[in-house]
Amino acid sequence: MKRFGVSLEDELLDKLDTLVERHTFPNRSQAIRFLIRRHLTTEQWKSNREVSGCLVLVYDHHKSDLQNKLTAIQHDFHHLVLCSQHVHLDHSNCIETITLKGKAQELQELADRLIAVKGMIHGELVMSVIR
Ligand code: NI
Repeated sequence: MKRFGVSLEDELLDKLDTLVERHTFPNRSQAIRFLIRRHLTTEQWKSNREVSGCLVLVYDHHKSDLQNKLTAIQHDFHHLVLCSQHVHLDHSNCIETITLKGKAQELQELADRLIAVKGMIHGELVMSVIR
């Protein structure tokens, strides 16, 4: 661990402190580490590196053929899917989390296709890294 000084305008420092408070970071250093790592994650996705991620889908399983389409699309990209978990939220709605690993562009393509299936209520890809 190395220490270094950072000069910031008052306004930017206030924003950093707001971020520290909102996220309940223990200190500014932890907040800065978080911001740097998040930036590096975005860069890894932009440069199509080997990454990981988790896709969250919410849908009504009564919608015709929706579940069959989700399964067919995942089979087309089976090499990216590490695991998936399906939970029945209530009588109609299901939440599914699909954990993914592979080239960023392929993960994005798979997520886009699943989110675009007719009848999907919510879909969001959380981008992460392998390291
Ligand atoms: Ni269900």
